Amino acid sequence: MLIRVPPPSRALESEVTPESVYLSRRKLMQASLALAAVGAVPGWARADTLGTYADAEPAKAPGWFDEKLSGTRWQAVVAEGESITPFKDATHYNNFYEFGTGKGDPAANAGKLQVEPWSVMVDGEVAKPGRYAIEDLIKPHAFEERIYRLRCVEAWSMVIPWLGFPLADLLKQVQPTSSARYVRFETLVDAEHMPGQRSGFSLIDWPYVEGLRLDEAMHPLAFMAVGMYGRVLPAQNGAPLRLVVPWKYGFKSIKSIVRISLVDQAPKTTWERIAPNEYGFYANVNPQVDHPRWSQAMERRLPSGLFSPNVIDTRMFNGYEEVAGLYAGMDLRTYY
Ligand code: MTE
Repeated sequence: MLIRVPPPSRALESEVTPESVYLSRRKLMQASLALAAVGAVPGWARADTLGTYADAEPAKAPGWFDEKLSGTRWQAVVAEGESITPFKDATHYNNFYEFGTGKGDPAANAGKLQVEPWSVMVDGEVAKPGRYAIEDLIKPHAFEERIYRLRCVEAWSMVIPWLGFPLADLLKQVQPTSSARYVRFETLVDAEHMPGQRSGFSLIDWPYVEGLRLDEAMHPLAFMAVGMYGRVLPAQNGAPLRLVVPWKYGFKSIKSIVRISLVDQAPKTTWERIAPNEYGFYANVNPQVDHPRWSQAMERRLPSGLFSPNVIDTRMFNGYEEVAGLYAGMDLRTYY
């Protein structure tokens, strides 16, 4: 994504096998055991119990996370033909420029991030502005698991099981006024613990900023993640609170959020400021609109290597066609 060097569900109903739609925890376990017994567990299903991922490193979570976890609505299935990205890849191949520009830098450097206590400033066009302790923002909402594809603008992708709740629920909690048109998000600024923010070579004018139109933010697929792989979010993936917008390029999914503002004008986002001809405000995944320096028609699904590159076709809206109505009548070549 760096411009000075050349160069990721809730599956669609149609993609999932009908009998496996949202099985209860117990039923899935029974079903998995039965399938395992006949040696027929398909690649897209999980053979273990819901919400447990054998390869995910356990981690100590804050009390507010553990309290909510037991009530989680787990997602039973992945889209057919897809499997969940190994935890190791999802947590060691990251973009989080606050910790450095290398893919391994966030895992190496984010451990020092202080995520407790954490608060989020909510301001602008809302009836209930204020600085919210993270536990107060989370308390009213049930946790859900969402297995989403994540498609980076750099043409690699993953499939990640997130834990959290719909962004719409958080917005309803703070009550946008009738003047609110957009949501602006900001990441923490903490040069002491974020070496990328100390770097004299950084192109980014911190804080990292992202934004959505209010109707995009209210779409049921837009998600606030506090965990992944059945556990609390690792620091390198945006602890303690990150956005996940699965139909848009990954750079819209801003990490470690400290401020949410309801505003009446489209906010200037970080990558738009740096290279407006390369990264637009909308950033919807679109295989027909190439990045000026590379094609967006295909993607490398991680894990991928020299002998097994695992290149697949990129799909419009990353396969989440149910969002198309948000852009009815818009020329998506102009509003890229
Ligand atoms: N958020 C912040 N604050 N800083 C970043 O550098 N990188 C973005 C996005 N959110 C980024 C960020 C990009 S380019 C991508 S592809 C995703 O995070 C990557 O998320 P992951 O590392 O959890 O896969």
